[in-house]
Amino acid sequence: MCGIMGYIGPRQALPILLDGLRRLEYRGYDSAGVAVLADGRIETRKAAGKLAVLESAIADRPIAGRAGIGHTRWATHGHPTEANAHPHGDCTGRCVVIHNGIIENYLPLRERLQAAGHRFRSDTDTEVVAHLIEEALEAIPSGRPDRMEAAVREAVRQTRGAYAIVVMSADDPERIVAVRMISPLIVGLGPDETLLASDIPALLPYTRDVLVIGDGEMAVIEAGRVTLADLDGRPVARRPEHITWDAAMAEKGGYPHFMLKEIYEQPRALHETMMGRLDRDDEVTLDGVALPEDLVRRLDKVWVVACGTAFHAGLVGRWLIEHLARVPVEPDLASELRYRDPLIVGRTLAVAISQSGETADTLAAAREARRRGSRVLAVTNVVGSTLAREADDVLFIRAGPEIAVASTKAYTTMLVALQMLAIHLGLRRGTLASARAAALIGALRHLPLQAQQALERSAEVEVLARRWVGAEHAFFIGRGLDYAVAMEGSLKLKEISYLHSEALAAGELKHGTLALVTPQTPVFALATQRTVYEKTISNIQEVRARGAEVIAVAYDDDAEIAKYAQTVLRIPPTDDLLAPVLAILPLQLFAYHVAALRGHDIDQPRNLAKSVTVE
Ligand code: G6P
Repeated sequence: MCGIMGYIGPRQALPILLDGLRRLEYRGYDSAGVAVLADGRIETRKAAGKLAVLESAIADRPIAGRAGIGHTRWATHGHPTEANAHPHGDCTGRCVVIHNGIIENYLPLRERLQAAGHRFRSDTDTEVVAHLIEEALEAIPSGRPDRMEAAVREAVRQTRGAYAIVVMSADDPERIVAVRMISPLIVGLGPDETLLASDIPALLPYTRDVLVIGDGEMAVIEAGRVTLADLDGRPVARRPEHITWDAAMAEKGGYPHFMLKEIYEQPRALHETMMGRLDRDDEVTLDGVALPEDLVRRLDKVWVVACGTAFHAGLVGRWLIEHLARVPVEPDLASELRYRDPLIVGRTLAVAISQSGETADTLAAAREARRRGSRVLAVTNVVGSTLAREADDVLFIRAGPEIAVASTKAYTTMLVALQMLAIHLGLRRGTLASARAAALIGALRHLPLQAQQALERSAEVEVLARRWVGAEHAFFIGRGLDYAVAMEGSLKLKEISYLHSEALAAGELKHGTLALVTPQTPVFALATQRTVYEKTISNIQEVRARGAEVIAVAYDDDAEIAKYAQTVLRIPPTDDLLAPVLAILPLQLFAYHVAALRGHDIDQPRNLAKSVTVE
């Protein structure tokens, strides 16, 4: 997500902050800012856009000082503007905060603080932290040596979420205080200087001795010194680590490719997608979505438009919305819709899905839907993207920046966003019983942990990849939601391994493609949908009879499947409607390992681009 950099020591802070932020640029960001302690005051500079814009703002008005914090922001709350860029100050301007992640309960906190007279200057969730600290400081006697830490602890006590914060105060100029709640934060230790960053690459030019702040811990950094404590103030002892990675490896968090890093980020990303939205068992709260009651109740059609992986997510969305909200759903490839003269009848909601929010065809399709009278709901990852700006409603998937061209965490977080949307619509339309909704919400909450468990089985997938690395064709089959996942599994394999592969509705195989099935063709059969399980087994037998080898994706508790498939990739059991989120994980890993064994450029496959902004 966002990038954090901090410095305290004998040197000028500003060039070090800017250099660190530049080394974090690969993570993606849309605005930036720095604050430096200069002559007992805090000086802040911020800018929307790239670091070069911030640098020219600084060139106009330079700041000298030996302690400072800097931030690159990847917007989650509020547009990517100068006002929303970090650092954010309290009312006095003597204390500033930078932050990664999300403060889940920022809205009630903001309302309470505003009612108490605090003045807010941004739309961010971050700013509440600055005002909470200001409020806490007022209640602590000024002589107390740990006044800052106590105030930060009090602010943290009132906030919920997964985040990292860094605080600097002109009244306590010898130290910078940082807290980690899930979002990573690392201290860099020099002989007489101390640094802080959200990721190791920013620290490497200055030191290779680092201390990783643990979850729920506070670090107080002073020049050449760091003190770690838990949130009750009890000291924590930890030895620094010495980093031997080179800079390129460090950017990828030690993974050889961004794609693998992003695959492993999925449990956390799924958690963030759901955060604050599933607090109750009988309701899904979708911030950014304000569909009028009349439209929801009397909806005639939902129109899903997207491209590539986002379209595959839309196919899962179709199933769920039809099933839970009982509205006909028409999924359309955005590039096709524009030239089809589509029929819009009655009340239509267009759901435009796009990781980047910039795909030209998806934007054009969303505009076309709007022109024909639909309300447009965007499901996207990028705050401030064109799609997010133009849509009537926006459901952010909160996957964090996705750098590898082959989409992984954006797909699974899109699935969860659509699952939540389907439950939301079903409850509001009265087509989904509250007990069933509660069961689905409960199962959704388990998904991050189950995704983690599924990813822990990567070694088996790697063995399978070695076996099939020389294959020329592969097929993916499934029924219902399994068919939608088969399409995404096949696309992953194609785009990075360059192996030809095709996805088929399992029942359709015998109408032609079966002619291509030979013992040299692996057939991936997805078998998670219990209502069509026996039918899928029959289709597996059809391909087995032609000598093909079948690799099934099935639940841990499926005792039958091993009788029919030579290999079974297991996933933890969940509600069938949610299974796609887990079923895709071994297929992403398979595609990754085949491509790695073939020595391909995994993060930037030939001929493909991350964001296709031409028709
Ligand atoms: C490109 C990417 C795909 C992506 C598609 C749609 O083709 O390589 O990974 O699925 O665009 O992108 P979007 O940003 O609209 O989701």
